[in-house]
Amino acid sequence: MTSTSPFTLRWGILSTGSIATEFAMDLLVDPATRNSDMRHVIAAVGSRSVESADRFVDKLKASTGPWSWGVQQGLLTETKAYGSYAEVCNDPNVDVVYVGTPVTLHHADAKMALLAGKHVLCEKCFTFDLAELDDLIAIAREKNLFLMEAVWTRFHPIAYKIQDVVFSGRLGKPKRFQADFSIDFNVDARPTSDRFLDPALGGGSLLDMGPYPSVWAMLLLYQHPDNRSTAPKFVNSYQRIYRRTNVDERSRWLLDFENLECEAQLMTDMTTHGLREATAVLQCQDGDLIIEFGPQKPSTFHIVPRNGERETYHYPIAAEQGHGLCFEADEVAQCIRDGKTESERMPLSESRVAQSWLDEVRRRGTTCMKDMKGKA
Ligand SMILES: NC(=O)c1ccc[n+]([C@@H]2O[C@H](COP(=O)([O-])OP(=O)(O)OC[C@H]3O[C@@H](n4cnc5c(N)ncnc54)[C@H](OP(=O)(O)O)[C@@H]3O)[C@@H](O)[C@H]2O)c1
Repeated sequence: MTSTSPFTLRWGILSTGSIATEFAMDLLVDPATRNSDMRHVIAAVGSRSVESADRFVDKLKASTGPWSWGVQQGLLTETKAYGSYAEVCNDPNVDVVYVGTPVTLHHADAKMALLAGKHVLCEKCFTFDLAELDDLIAIAREKNLFLMEAVWTRFHPIAYKIQDVVFSGRLGKPKRFQADFSIDFNVDARPTSDRFLDPALGGGSLLDMGPYPSVWAMLLLYQHPDNRSTAPKFVNSYQRIYRRTNVDERSRWLLDFENLECEAQLMTDMTTHGLREATAVLQCQDGDLIIEFGPQKPSTFHIVPRNGERETYHYPIAAEQGHGLCFEADEVAQCIRDGKTESERMPLSESRVAQSWLDEVRRRGTTCMKDMKGKA
């Protein structure tokens, strides 16, 4: 709802990598494009080198298109560029820290921010393992700070629309589900130091891509009213190894949502393109729901009733809404404004469930990342 006195949240951005760039850009999008009254100021950017932080801020200031609005509104006027993450965490002008580093660094970076008294939004997957996540949750609770995993898909308008269809019961009881996030990232052409290949940076398809098949299992099955927020039984898993660095190039796992009597097969792959026309499929008693690629930011879904015509729905992120990361930023701002320490849409309990699946796939698998403490 638009109001005359927007709530202002001052962000500190950790890292100048690719998703940190897109996230920071989306803080500059006019909130009116999504009927929001949140105002996001970029107070500080931290990088391992001050030159990179300076370049990042300069690039943001040169933004065109939907991102130029924030530049004109002065959302970057006071932005500090630091050559360390610690300086961002200790900046008194920062309310909340966005963690956009590789997954094996999330725990240390988010912990530093929490211990400095900052709220935290941390990129997916939240942490390397559940033990790290539980440590962050304990600190956030002890210090009464907001903490959330940055699963942006949950906040996209299409996610609410799809849930409405499934939960309305018009397709009947869920019976089987499959979701896949697969992209051919041309890994053979990448150096072994690449984030996708280096075990020390959380390499492999599972940790990077796993949150996206998981998000649809969580939204459609875990949150299904008949599931009564019960974690599924983990049935089995399989990983194919990428020989150059011994990380997983492909992972699959099977879950049984016993309250629903519905199985879910989830898959990630960094060497093969997934099906464009069906990234997630929920087969129900009276018809199917089909979500088109990609699972992180779908714009089209279909309802195929058992007896009836296929219906197609489009809910794309509008060009004036940027990349679509502004919705999760608004959620963070609203929660902090309202004094909440976690989001009802992306609760910590649900991050724990999805994180536990990644742990279990790795524990049962054969990659060099099987050992939870084997990371760099
Ligand atoms: N939400 C989404 O849709 C989405 C999309 C892509 C990625 N992600 C997640 O976001 C995180 C970052 O992914 P990304 O694609 O942005 O990665 P990226 O482009 O490689 O950026 C990562 C950044 O982390 C910093 N960093 C700190 N220590 C590092 C180290 N030892 N090696 C490499 N970089 C280091 C670097 O920034 P400085 O040099 O400035 O310190 C680097 O630019 C991952 O957890 C990933 O899964 C989320």
